[in-house]
Amino acid sequence: MRGKITIICENSVTIRGGIGEHGFAAFLETERGNYLFDTGRGDGLIRNLLTFEKDPLSIQKIILSHGHPDHTGGLPAILEMLGEIEVYAHPGIFDNRFKITKIEGEEKKQFVGIKYRRIYLESLGAKFSLAKNFRELATDMYLTGEVPRRNPFEKGDFRLFAEANGRTIPDPFPDDQSVIIKNPEGLVLLLGCAHSGIINIVEYAIQKTGVDRIFAVLGGTHLDFATPDQMEETIKTLKKYRIEKIGVSHCTGAKAASRLWAEFGDRFFFGHVGECLEF
Ligand SMILES: [Fe+2]
Ligand SMILES: [Fe+2]
Repeated sequence: MRGKITIICENSVTIRGGIGEHGFAAFLETERGNYLFDTGRGDGLIRNLLTFEKDPLSIQKIILSHGHPDHTGGLPAILEMLGEIEVYAHPGIFDNRFKITKIEGEEKKQFVGIKYRRIYLESLGAKFSLAKNFRELATDMYLTGEVPRRNPFEKGDFRLFAEANGRTIPDPFPDDQSVIIKNPEGLVLLLGCAHSGIINIVEYAIQKTGVDRIFAVLGGTHLDFATPDQMEETIKTLKKYRIEKIGVSHCTGAKAASRLWAEFGDRFFFGHVGECLEF
């Protein structure tokens, strides 16, 4: 399937008219219609869609990568505009989750779950389609569902926690999922934060589609929070897959992005607000 992905919400902006915010959202134009993947934190979504001449009313489905507020914060704004629309996600998006950090020796626990109740979003028009499994969004376009954690070097972000049976546990992110598009050049993967691990996602996409050529990976990689060991293993494995375009955004961070640029040269690009990938 042919199409185009435009970054709508991201931490940084280099194109006139757009605004940056800590979050992620992308507009996906395909032969089979247009989709919104994530919604940013809430400030930039509508403004940037209009700035880049993406018609919000053309959106067929909203797809959510996970429940973090920097990916789900724009839901009320877009729902108020669209009214009834299908929202594809994993049921875990509504889980309670936290970021725990130490500031000057003191532990700070911050709520980082979705900010809105399901009933509120439904009252604005959200028709949730929640599932845990791999599924088809359209012909040649899929949503990963829960991604198995098969690479032990992908350890996740040690600051992030969830609530399970009244206990605080490291956030297992069952809800973290990515979009897979099949086209003649290979797979295109659109990531939210890649809390499942970018390599786990790449390998699961290959397993589920039977296509072992990756044309492009684009989105948040969460490599900003990877250990040096994880970074080395990730680069080594990405090289093995000979990915033609590696576009990173959001939680990749400047340090990891610079390293990827040095390693992948012209195959690398930074997915700022307004940046496009044609496939
Ligand atoms: Fe994020
Ligand atoms: Fe996240």
